[in-house]
Amino acid sequence: MTKIYGHRGASKVCPENTMASYIKALELGAEGLEIDVHLTKDGIPVVIHDETVKRTTNGKGYVKNFSLQEIKQLDAGSWFSSEFQYERIPTLEEFLQWIRTTPLLLNIELKNNKVHYEDLEQKVYNLVNAYGMKERTIYSSFNHYSLVLLRGMDPSIDIAPLYTSNLYKPWNYANQLGAWSVHPPFKSLHPPILEGLRRHNISVRPYTVNKEKWLYYFFQYEVDAVITDLPDLALAVRNGDIP
Ligand code: G3P
Ligand code: MG
Repeated sequence: MTKIYGHRGASKVCPENTMASYIKALELGAEGLEIDVHLTKDGIPVVIHDETVKRTTNGKGYVKNFSLQEIKQLDAGSWFSSEFQYERIPTLEEFLQWIRTTPLLLNIELKNNKVHYEDLEQKVYNLVNAYGMKERTIYSSFNHYSLVLLRGMDPSIDIAPLYTSNLYKPWNYANQLGAWSVHPPFKSLHPPILEGLRRHNISVRPYTVNKEKWLYYFFQYEVDAVITDLPDLALAVRNGDIP
């Protein structure tokens, strides 16, 4: 059965990439979470989507220019609603301490396609293993060099290239990277592409699927997972609760 991954948590109803958003996604029926990881100035993996803190906190500047102590002062919830004013940017470690106590699957997106973060791959990999999450974690990135680096570290992990438009025969590209999965933009997945990926045994987890008609399409096809801002809508469509 197609799994449901909450994109940055339950980011339609909570400020993205906060603990409130992850807890809500679990409540709403997500079976997995997609999160985005950057490094602070002092090299600590933190969970936030953008390279800068401007859009999702009350601060401004690049994540890479904040120490952990500085970034922890920021309010990561009020931009969304005052009810979330006490949300902070989670460290990856805090997040892992929590998720390991749940049954959730995990997709960590390494956000190093615009900023270079020294040793991001190794740091994230070590933390995931230290918290016993290795078997439940998929690594994705728009930076495919990072994925190849991870593959070199460990032949047994699931790595998934993210991309933004129509790749020609994505199964060939996945094989070239040593990837068992792809995370494509949902609109690129025409039936022949889905069929080709299935024929080549490549797992497919489209992003970001928020519309009933597309959710239905992917559940019908039984792709491996959908990545969505609306885990409750996805669950309702999967359950056939929506006519
Ligand atoms: O992992 C799927 C999706 O999160 C990729 O794009 O920009 O939302 O991180 P973005
Ligand atoms: Mg992401």
